[in-house]
Amino acid sequence: MTLTPAAFPSARLRRTRQSAALRGLVRENTLTVEDLIWPVFVRDGEGVEEPIASMPGVYRRSVDKIVEAAQEAADLGIPVICLFPYTDPSLKTADCAEAWNPDNLSNRATRAIKAAVPNIAVMTDVALDPYNIDGHDGFVENGEIVNDRTVEALVKQALSQADAGADIIGPSDMMDGRIGAIRTALETAGHHNVTLMSYTAKYASAFYGPFRDAVGASGALKGDKTTYQMDPANSDEALRLVARDLAEGADMVMVKPGMPYLDICRRVKESFGVPTFAYQVSGEYAMIQAAAQNGWIDGERAMIESLMAFKRAGCDGILSYFAPMVARKIGQ
Ligand code: PBG
Repeated sequence: MTLTPAAFPSARLRRTRQSAALRGLVRENTLTVEDLIWPVFVRDGEGVEEPIASMPGVYRRSVDKIVEAAQEAADLGIPVICLFPYTDPSLKTADCAEAWNPDNLSNRATRAIKAAVPNIAVMTDVALDPYNIDGHDGFVENGEIVNDRTVEALVKQALSQADAGADIIGPSDMMDGRIGAIRTALETAGHHNVTLMSYTAKYASAFYGPFRDAVGASGALKGDKTTYQMDPANSDEALRLVARDLAEGADMVMVKPGMPYLDICRRVKESFGVPTFAYQVSGEYAMIQAAAQNGWIDGERAMIESLMAFKRAGCDGILSYFAPMVARKIGQ
């Protein structure tokens, strides 16, 4: 901006802050229910809602309960629900075949939601970690997480999700070339309208801890994910990844985690002007909830403030475990 601000007392910036009416009038950003994607955890069984200790207020739900949750979300105006399966350890194998089983938990939940709640969009996760005995997002050969063989499996997984009716497919694995391979396979199979939200700038983060508990991957994981997820020290690399994913056919891009990476959100949005999303991950959620439960912060205000930050940073939407709580709060 080239404008020189007027000097005091011509300018008193407090003037437009003096009442709720004036603050509302000059407010630059708004958070709406339509900005929210709600990640949920699916498990087997019936009538089950199992609390997750490290994520107060979040549950693993059986498919029937997920359908109820999807209905509730749709009634609140939440546009998208995102499924993460808690896979029974007996189904985890070295070949990860459960990942593209048409009747796996994620695909069953997708079909059940699409049948019962047609007006909510379903997003699914592409990565092998829920199905892998090693807990990694890709196949492990001699200690190496191999890229190209993993991409072939991810394509099968993505196709099974599209066949089940997924509206948005979210590859979260960070293998190279997976967006292009999945896009080509979807086009070839006639799934022209299935959208891809790439986990484009996904960092090797400590903030995923509670999620790995939630999907039962913590125990399985051998080593860390630093050979495929991004180095938290890098920023230019995120822009290279965005350019690459867009060229390969991504419709939307994501930055993950959220709050520690708001600078990346801003750079991505300003550089590319494409639909940009952030994932407020499990550790971010857990920190706010834990502090609130201790009475150290006002949880509701921190929740809204944390999500407004993403809008300010240029994001079009946010994946957040707070989604239904926020929807109830701002929908009032
Ligand atoms: C794995 C995956 C992870 C999350 C979403 N998909 C964890 C990881 O990469 O280990 C994290 C979500 C969260 O922490 O809320 N493919």
